[in-house]
Amino acid sequence: MGELIYEGKAKQLYTTAEEGILRVAYKDDATALNGERREVFAGKGIRNNEITSLIFRYLAENGVKSHFVKQLSETEQLVREVEIIPLEVVVRNVLAGSLAKRLGRSEGEVIETPIVEFYYKDDALGDPFINDDHVLFLGAASAVEIETLKQEARKIGDVLTELFSKANITLVDFKLEFGRTKDGAILLSDEISPDTCRLWDKTTNEKLDKDVFRRNIGNLITVYDEVLTRLEEVTKHV
Ligand code: TMP
Repeated sequence: MGELIYEGKAKQLYTTAEEGILRVAYKDDATALNGERREVFAGKGIRNNEITSLIFRYLAENGVKSHFVKQLSETEQLVREVEIIPLEVVVRNVLAGSLAKRLGRSEGEVIETPIVEFYYKDDALGDPFINDDHVLFLGAASAVEIETLKQEARKIGDVLTELFSKANITLVDFKLEFGRTKDGAILLSDEISPDTCRLWDKTTNEKLDKDVFRRNIGNLITVYDEVLTRLEEVTKHV
C-alpha cells in the first residue's frame, strides 16, 4: 500500500507504485492553535477529501492546474509529487480572523481588492506573517515565483468566490499551498476545504468552517456536511 513518507496534522502521504505519484489519506483529526488543541471527529476526513476533490476538479475545469490526479476512495486521493513551497498563501475577501485582530477592526468588512498575504510555514515559529522581501531573504520563492503565486491565488479566489456564491456561501478568506514539479512548474497543492477556508452562509452569516471548532460554536461534521451538500448541488450539472 506504499510507504508513509509524511504525516501532517490532517493528512498522511504515501508513495505508490507509480513514480511521481503519491497517495494522500485524509485523517479525522482537527487541530487549532498551531496544533496545541486536537480532537478527532469521525467522518471529517471523508468530508474534506470529498470537498477538496470536488474543488480541485472544478478548478481544473476553470483552467487552474493542481497536483490533484483523482479521488481514490472516500478518504484518499492520488496526487502528483511536488516539492512544497514553505509558504501559506492567504487570500482575504472579507476582514476576519488574524487580520481583523491585527488591524483592530471588526470582522465582516468587505475588502474590495482581495488582500494576498504570505505566512512562512514553520511550526516552531508559529507560521509568521512575512512580506515579499522576507520570502526572498528566506529563499522560499524567487521574485518570479512570488508573482506567479499571487496571480494564481487571485485567480483561484475569483473562481472559488463565484462557486461558493452559487452555494449561497461567502468565501471570506482561504489558505493555499503550492509546490514545484521536477521541471520547475508551480502547482496548487495541499487541500481546499472548510479546514483552510472561512465560509459564511450568505443569508445568515452562520460559520460553515473550522471556526466552529476553533471557537467552540457548533458541530464541525454538521457544517462540513452542509458545505459538501451545497457544493455537490451546484456542481452536479457541470
Ligand atoms: P487567519 O485569519 O487565522 O490568518 O486565517 C486566514 C485563513 O487561512 C483562514 O481561512 C484559515 C486559513 N488558515 C489555514 O488554513 N491554516 C493556518 O495555519 C492558518 C493560520 C490559517
